[in-house]
Amino acid sequence: MSGFSSEWLALREPLDLDARNRDVEDAFVGGLPPGPVRLLDLASGAGSTVAALAPRLDRQVDWLLTDYDPALLAIAQDRRGDRVATRQVDLQADLERLRFEDVDAVTTSAFLDLASEPFLRRLAERVAAARKPFLASLTYDGRSSFAPAHPMDERLLEGLNRHQRTDKGFGPALGPDAAARALTLFEEKGFKVLSGPSDWEITPASADFLMEFLSGWLRVGRELSLPEDALASWWQDRQARIRAGELSMMVGHIDFVALP
Ligand SMILES: C[S@@+](CC[C@H](N)C(=O)[O-])C[C@H]1O[C@@H](n2cnc3c(N)ncnc32)[C@H](O)[C@@H]1O
Repeated sequence: MSGFSSEWLALREPLDLDARNRDVEDAFVGGLPPGPVRLLDLASGAGSTVAALAPRLDRQVDWLLTDYDPALLAIAQDRRGDRVATRQVDLQADLERLRFEDVDAVTTSAFLDLASEPFLRRLAERVAAARKPFLASLTYDGRSSFAPAHPMDERLLEGLNRHQRTDKGFGPALGPDAAARALTLFEEKGFKVLSGPSDWEITPASADFLMEFLSGWLRVGRELSLPEDALASWWQDRQARIRAGELSMMVGHIDFVALP
């Protein structure tokens, strides 16, 4: 199972939709052929990319959504309807079985930071061989900040970014370096690449999201054996501020489009 619950993906989806970089999406839409299109979304989860691009594509779009979590694909199918087909696939094992040449473009979101260098090479190879536009949204880039700050934030962030580089099913993950590495690989294939920020600007109104997100930070801090008393006082402070509507956060992401 993927470890990405539908509840978590639902909490992050509004932030994702706000954060997506419009210039990058415009360039992607501009790179599509005219008329109806077929799009392949990699690691689709519950179908967030379909939700994001639907208002920007005023024509018939047939989607093929791929993920290895059948429960998330079932939710995506329910939410997104008839013109959406799903396929359960482990992208690490079976990337080369997907027929990139049968679609007009390839998309992914909140996924590349899980991938390793060899996987990104394989992906760039496949997209380049099929000469398709590629849109990668919301790749985490290692930046996070809090307002107000806490003395433990930096240490936790450093630990979190180290944890991001552990194996997520593709070998050691590139984590915060993934977007920069991927866009270089596409440039080396002769693709024209446009990138831009898609940072989460999380206000105190997203209290449920912040509780869940920062409980993940706490979990990672414990896994990394950071001092328990420092972690406990950080968590107490962050929870109190979330409940009081006092905590805001920025989390850095990068969007890019690569056009053949
Ligand atoms: C952070 S979620 C993003 C989901 C969705 N793209 C979105 O933006 O909400 C990462 C997704 O990658 C999928 N995933 C992780 N490893 C995978 C693999 N080896 N093969 C296929 N999907 C995978 C997970 O199941 C999960 O749906």
